[in-house]
Amino acid sequence: MSPAGSNPLGFARAERARFYAELDEFLRIPSVSAKSDHDADTGRAAEWVRAQLAGAGLEAETFATPGHPVVVGEWRGAGPDAPTVLIYGHYDVQPPEPLELWDSPPFEPDVRDGRIYARGSADDKGQLFLHIKALEAHLKTRGRLPVNVIMLAEGEEEVGSPNLVPFVREHRERLAADTVVISDSAMFAPGLPSLLFSLRGLAYFEIHATGPSSDLHSGAYGGAVLNPANALAKVIGGLHDNDGRITIRGFYDDIIEPSPKTLAGIRALPFDADEYAREVGARATGGERGYSALERLWTRPSCDVNGMLSGYTGEGAKTVLPAKAMAKVSFRLVPRQSPERVHELFEKHLARVAPPGVRLELVELHGGRPWRASLDGPLFDAASRALEKSFGTRPVLAGEGGSIPIVGEFEEILGANSLLLGFALPGANMHAPNEWFATDCFERGIDTLIHLYDELAGV
Ligand code: BES
Ligand code: MN
Ligand code: MN
Repeated sequence: MSPAGSNPLGFARAERARFYAELDEFLRIPSVSAKSDHDADTGRAAEWVRAQLAGAGLEAETFATPGHPVVVGEWRGAGPDAPTVLIYGHYDVQPPEPLELWDSPPFEPDVRDGRIYARGSADDKGQLFLHIKALEAHLKTRGRLPVNVIMLAEGEEEVGSPNLVPFVREHRERLAADTVVISDSAMFAPGLPSLLFSLRGLAYFEIHATGPSSDLHSGAYGGAVLNPANALAKVIGGLHDNDGRITIRGFYDDIIEPSPKTLAGIRALPFDADEYAREVGARATGGERGYSALERLWTRPSCDVNGMLSGYTGEGAKTVLPAKAMAKVSFRLVPRQSPERVHELFEKHLARVAPPGVRLELVELHGGRPWRASLDGPLFDAASRALEKSFGTRPVLAGEGGSIPIVGEFEEILGANSLLLGFALPGANMHAPNEWFATDCFERGIDTLIHLYDELAGV
């Protein structure tokens, strides 16, 4: 082997062109978990990951579930005294629609201005792939890894991981690990990596409001028969008070405040709320009174309407009183709120505020627990050193407003601490048209993870 390829970092450099070509192949598989007409593609992506893991030198297996497959790769040659690291990622992606807003097709990766544009490039195929390549770089040069490794890749993260929780429970002994490592998030800013101290949880519902048995003439009945769209709008409008607080009784009761150290860390971060609003084309940030934008995002729950459906929405006017109305409403949760408890409280709330004459029905779609890290300890130090070696700067501690449903369960079921270090950049358009992943982060990401496995050997 050439000298350049004789150590893991040199190998990653020497094999870079092949790595890019393989990522291109991965991103071309439209593994949209939410859509059943893509089931075969999602299965193909699972098999692609399995073959990659086997090629890197792990023992790899695909497990069927009632939904999409779970892929498990294992390398246990470091021996019983070395730590075991569980690496988690997801190979499914969000639907690419609306297609007309993409500058290049979502499943035909295009590299422009140092960015790989494709659905899944950042969330999460590109980041999952970094780990596979870092493992390969170790195994192909040294013939071994400094730690025992289990790779767990799922195909249902974007639909709430319904089959992964039972899978982890069932295989808890096989998946036993000292540390969980996940790259499925973003850096705080370009050039400034971050380690996550929290993720928010999620509780997602539909509210169905039903009024008369069919649509009615709004002149013949309006004002005398209650309109379910009006009623649902009032219910939604009443979910927040004038201070931006959620009005459901007991909603805030289970919350535990973040530590003073966490709050001080948030205040010390370089962050301009006006700039943040400008970047997304909003006039200003807003939310619960008494909190900064980052505190609201990372330490406070939220409630948002994700969609509404009712009445006539076609061209022109139609004087109609709709028979029904529907809204999708979700809550982001913070420790120790739980989706089950929020469901219970929301149900009671709706019973309390439902106007007579309109029936409100609540349907839960999916949920996930919030997660908060313990900040001290050798784990964060090990990850900091690895990031510093490849980015030239120590990471900041950051929270995350989004959710990764399985993370809370890893702690509960496996008793392992999680390390979340992501390599996407802010504005990467996750879930949106023109999703991208920076080539610079791709290359430094692989280097970081090569260092990280070395660093974790000592933890
Ligand atoms: N990778 C994201 C979570 C995320 C987003 C982390 C942005 C950091 C920055 C994950 O794939 C995701 O989209 N989660 C969903 C969960 C849901 C579908 C159950 C979310 O947060 O909406
Ligand atoms: Mn993700
Ligand atoms: Mn996602």
